[in-house]
Amino acid sequence: MTTQTAGLEVPTLSGWPVVGSLRGLRSDYLGTISRADRDIGGLARIVAGPPGWRLTIYSVTAPDLIEEVLASPDRFGKHHPGYRELRSALGDNMLTSEHETWHRQRRFLASMFTRRRLAEQYAPVMTDEAQRLVERWRGLAARGVTLDAYPEMVRMASRVSGRILFGADMSAAAELLTRFRVVNDQLLRRAVSPHPPPGWAPTPGNRRIRHGLREARAIADDLVTARRGPYPVRATDMLGLLCAARDAEDEADRLTDREVADQAMLFLLAGHDTTAVTLSCVLLMLAQHPEWQRRLRAEVDHALRGRPPSAADLDRLPWTDRVVRETLRLFPAAHGMGRSTATEQTLGAHRIPAGSWVEVSIWGAHHSARVWPDPERFDPSRFDLAEGEHPGGHRYAWLPFGVGARACIGRPISLTEVQITVATVLQAFEVTSPLAATPVHAAITLMPTGRLPLDVRPR
Ligand code: HEM
Repeated sequence: MTTQTAGLEVPTLSGWPVVGSLRGLRSDYLGTISRADRDIGGLARIVAGPPGWRLTIYSVTAPDLIEEVLASPDRFGKHHPGYRELRSALGDNMLTSEHETWHRQRRFLASMFTRRRLAEQYAPVMTDEAQRLVERWRGLAARGVTLDAYPEMVRMASRVSGRILFGADMSAAAELLTRFRVVNDQLLRRAVSPHPPPGWAPTPGNRRIRHGLREARAIADDLVTARRGPYPVRATDMLGLLCAARDAEDEADRLTDREVADQAMLFLLAGHDTTAVTLSCVLLMLAQHPEWQRRLRAEVDHALRGRPPSAADLDRLPWTDRVVRETLRLFPAAHGMGRSTATEQTLGAHRIPAGSWVEVSIWGAHHSARVWPDPERFDPSRFDLAEGEHPGGHRYAWLPFGVGARACIGRPISLTEVQITVATVLQAFEVTSPLAATPVHAAITLMPTGRLPLDVRPR
């Protein structure tokens, strides 16, 4: 039996007769979310498509309402279309799973994400790859080539993820990533379409997803089998750790081969595009704000005195950290977190019907004039705060990695990778760009729209 909860109707964003905000969502999803925040407030209903074929999004951008959604996973769960796509593509991994399955996976994987492992195993890989990047860029700069920041950063972040996951076996990582690119593109298309054809339908897109996934899975399965074979390689890369992991609460429990392969695929997918787009945007921000570039270069030169950065150096680069945080505010690589309601709920003073898509819009919160003074201005000093103060004045105002129990487990890895790379690039080059703005749009994650030209001049 469903009970009617008390609560006001959520106000609807104005749109076209019949089709509502369909065109707006398709042509400018992020702009539509921001318009809803500006015109309606921190909770708005956005409808798209004619009745009977309608998509309804409850867009949440007010920090106190975001807190209510994220703190109540039983009321606002992860049975959302985007996660459904991911789950059916990759299996029930740590990003998509819920309840005991998630607890068990998180217990298993915690040991792969310790500060010590990051400092001793992963950060040296990042420093090494950043040096390689600088060498590559020196060669390109000598030939007068203008770089395209995003593919450059995808290449570098893929190499880092590949080496962290599979150690020396880069060819396996490269092959997996190639297969994934096809799957990723097609999944994005499905997730941003209000009514994608069902997964079983024999459409060309579905066939490409199935084929790409089958191939990716075969490669991942082979890697796991090789590690668990009669002569297992005792590797300390993530795949080795996943194979050897034991549940902290039950020593006899371990991940099945399928689970190991699923988590490895998730890390590869979750980690490199998000980190790459963040890195690209940081470099563009520095190119567009030379005063901040000079300030960071002075900080890096003073703290490192010309030697390559390590994880231990990052505490001495506070302004580099603030520039990265401000970039993540303006360009949150994961622009939203989809949730859904199984039964009718109240949120603040409002009623959310059963079966609704509730979108915690990180983009919307980060660009809201209700939260941030002059929100479109790039100003890293917003993060120059006293102990205990929150940027934007609320714990849930700045949340590029989520907040709470389901926050991103890869956050320290990404932040370390971005800071090490930026410091290394600034040691070697001055960066400029002919672009005055940084155009992005929403796919599953944030994506640059077109090329991001970057010129690097050796110092
Ligand atoms: C700039 C880079 C990154 C950003 C902006 C980012 C953002 C996020 C966000 C917003 C969530 C919460 C999703 C939700 O609750 O619906 C999340 C979860 C997650 N992220 Fe990341 N992420 C990044 C990098 C990474 C990396 C490098 C890894 C892995 C190596 C990773 C693995 C995960 C996993 C496993 C979860 C699920 C955690 C859980 O539910 O317990 N992420 N990420």
